Amino acid sequence: MDVESVRWLQSDDGQRVLALAAALDEPDPLRAHTALERATPGTPSDRLAVALTQAELRVRAEDKFGDLAGSMYFTPDGLEQATRLSVATHRAARLNAFGATTVVDLGCGNGGDLIAFARAGITAAGVDLDPVRVEVATANLAALGLGGAVQVADALDVDHTPFDVAFCDPARRSGRGRTFSPDAWTPPWSFAEALLARDACVKTTPGIPHEVIPAGVEAEWVSDHGEVKEAALWGGRLATAGRRATVIGDGGLATLTEEDDPGADVTPLARFLYEPDGAVIRAGLVTAVAAGVGGGLLDRHIAYVTAEAPFRSPFARSYEILETLPHREKQLRAALHERGIGRLTIKKRGVDVVPDQLRKRLALTGDEEATIVLTRVDGHGTCLLVRPF
Ligand SMILES: C[S@@+](CC[C@H](N)C(=O)[O-])C[C@H]1O[C@@H](n2cnc3c(N)ncnc32)[C@H](O)[C@@H]1O
Repeated sequence: MDVESVRWLQSDDGQRVLALAAALDEPDPLRAHTALERATPGTPSDRLAVALTQAELRVRAEDKFGDLAGSMYFTPDGLEQATRLSVATHRAARLNAFGATTVVDLGCGNGGDLIAFARAGITAAGVDLDPVRVEVATANLAALGLGGAVQVADALDVDHTPFDVAFCDPARRSGRGRTFSPDAWTPPWSFAEALLARDACVKTTPGIPHEVIPAGVEAEWVSDHGEVKEAALWGGRLATAGRRATVIGDGGLATLTEEDDPGADVTPLARFLYEPDGAVIRAGLVTAVAAGVGGGLLDRHIAYVTAEAPFRSPFARSYEILETLPHREKQLRAALHERGIGRLTIKKRGVDVVPDQLRKRLALTGDEEATIVLTRVDGHGTCLLVRPF
């Protein structure tokens, strides 16, 4: 997509063709093109393709942007890189709580974060090297009736000092990897690191090693419905903890820091098992969950918690332990057959098992459904039959 196409999509003609493209119920791309051509005689073929792609991107974007997706604009890569609305809204809420009234987004892409800042009532300015993305981000602000300004510029040349907060979500040249490879960042890690000396936020991958986080900077791992989405680094006066895990779910948002972590020991297997959220694990706060449920760790090196008491926690999935089954495959198969278990969810931590392969080898038949946890307790391979609580 080019700048001209983004402008055309917003014109009366573009809106009409886009609406017709969105209304087509035709999964086959060639047939969809033909149908749209018939419905809009005289529209050039490349415009039809632009409208069809945009309609498809809007559907794909619903996962990240919910109802807003239907009126937004995207480039395929820009959508892939965009921060989901729930996470960006949380970031904007932190800026609001801090009292920021202006923010500059240094590499705003399609505007995932930019629109969240603007929706939170913060005056938001965005820059990006890519003119098409600038056009798309501008279109998104307009489509959602939001204020803000976007322009083509190199983040490295922008004077960000007049803004209350600077935000940067560097692109990862190496693609989608969730590991931390700062050499592949643009703007580069050195730029992001320097930015964190002021009131700033830098979005990074969940795999960022703790040791590269600059002193005095808060690292916040954020998960949405159990999936870790990012580690946000907060610099200057925005840093309010060292390590933080924030979990977003249906019930809202909950957050935990190292101040909530008195530490916990390894304890014997109790009645309940807790599987901490990925954000908690990445933040190194599993022991905070253990303390929170009045329990301990199953093993010093494994992120499972056990406790006598049943709790519901936003920071962990809870299971009641029904019994301990044999962990050797042959005996385990017999035990599962005996119980009529035909459908099996296999969870594992700290043991070398590929659940799908094991499930196939177990060749289960039967009407019952069950969940097993394969792990180590006190250094020994263990299989627990559990029930989600
Ligand atoms: C990961 S994307 C940002 C996504 C955005 N936060 C969102 O939610 O939609 C990173 C963006 O930074 C831009 N970028 C990379 N280097 C830049 C630079 N030196 N100056 C300005 N923009 C840059 C890329 O073009 C890309 O659009």
